[in-house]
Amino acid sequence: MIEFKDVKKVFQSNKQQIEALTGINLKVEQGDIYGVIGYSGAGKSTLIRMVNLLERPSEGAVLVNGINLASLKPSKLRQEKKKIGMIFQHFNLLNSKTVFDNIAMPLVLSRTPKTKIKARVSELLKFVGLADKAKNYPDQLSGGQKQRIGIARALATNPSILLCDEATSALDPQTTSEVLQLLKKINAEYNITILLITHEMSVIREICNKVAVMEYGKVVENGSVFNIFSNPQSTIAKNFVRTVIHDEVPKSILNELHASKKSIWKINFIGTSSGRPLLSTLAKKFDVDISVLSANISEIQDTPFGNLIVDVTGEQDEITKAYQFAKDENVSLQEVVADGQ
Ligand SMILES: Nc1ncnc2c1ncn2[C@@H]1O[C@H](COP(=O)(O)OP(=O)(O)O)[C@@H](O)[C@H]1O
Ligand SMILES: [Mg+2]
Repeated sequence: MIEFKDVKKVFQSNKQQIEALTGINLKVEQGDIYGVIGYSGAGKSTLIRMVNLLERPSEGAVLVNGINLASLKPSKLRQEKKKIGMIFQHFNLLNSKTVFDNIAMPLVLSRTPKTKIKARVSELLKFVGLADKAKNYPDQLSGGQKQRIGIARALATNPSILLCDEATSALDPQTTSEVLQLLKKINAEYNITILLITHEMSVIREICNKVAVMEYGKVVENGSVFNIFSNPQSTIAKNFVRTVIHDEVPKSILNELHASKKSIWKINFIGTSSGRPLLSTLAKKFDVDISVLSANISEIQDTPFGNLIVDVTGEQDEITKAYQFAKDENVSLQEVVADGQ
């Protein structure tokens, strides 16, 4: 659906060369909500702007539905671009035009008959929940309402792809959540493929099925959201995951435990094993005491994902046996600190 093949981008700025993308290979499948996350300057906007040719690759190719847009003549390009909608962090609405006219703009540009425009804009306003705002001006709307209008405008030409460049970064958490739910609905009801970029891992967790982590113009890690969240490999992916899944042992606890005869374990439960009473089984089967330091269960891609941090006390050989037993259960287990060794 969208394929990046060895895409490189070099910007010339004041005789300086900036390598914004240094060889991107990525495949977004039909129906995906694909998130690209990275810190500021990673190259995310440059990447997403390649899809609708707001930027052209210096090397490599971007294929949209199998077509390399960069090779098309202007008239064919216009036609293909209608299949790609885009929304922006600062909404990019025209303040001098009404909400109705903002949404109608892409249809006016493609010379759609007036009656059709009216019907389509009304339908879109209803879909984004702002049927009563047709005659208002953007300045009279809240941030969340402005982004809904941005979304309605992006959908006007019935695109098959929606690009979102930090679409919720200017919104408060509650409004962010509402806009994300709207994007999810668009994906589900219209089967529109969504490529979104963000610097917030909570956005990825809330709606994406796949994620790519970008750093210095490269994709350092990508895969299903569940796999990246439950088992991040790169330092940057771990840092991003840590912003939403808190499974670090606080330093004060580590210091306190330094002198004691305890072992700290991190346990990750995945899927149906979340509910298994592992801790009570361990406490019954072995001569150990287990206390929970922190426990958290979240849902990623409709699958429960639990993190437990526990400390285990007892004789070392009982702790070892309990550890072996737990390892054979359907959990991921990691010993953080084992003192007295
Ligand atoms: N038009 C441009 N001219 C020169 N440099 C640019 C241009 N656009 C982006 N860059 C540079 O490319 C790098 C990646 O930018 P960008 O894609 O905007 O990153 P992100 O969206 O991840 O913050 C940055 O170093 C930025 O300064
Ligand atoms: Mg950006």
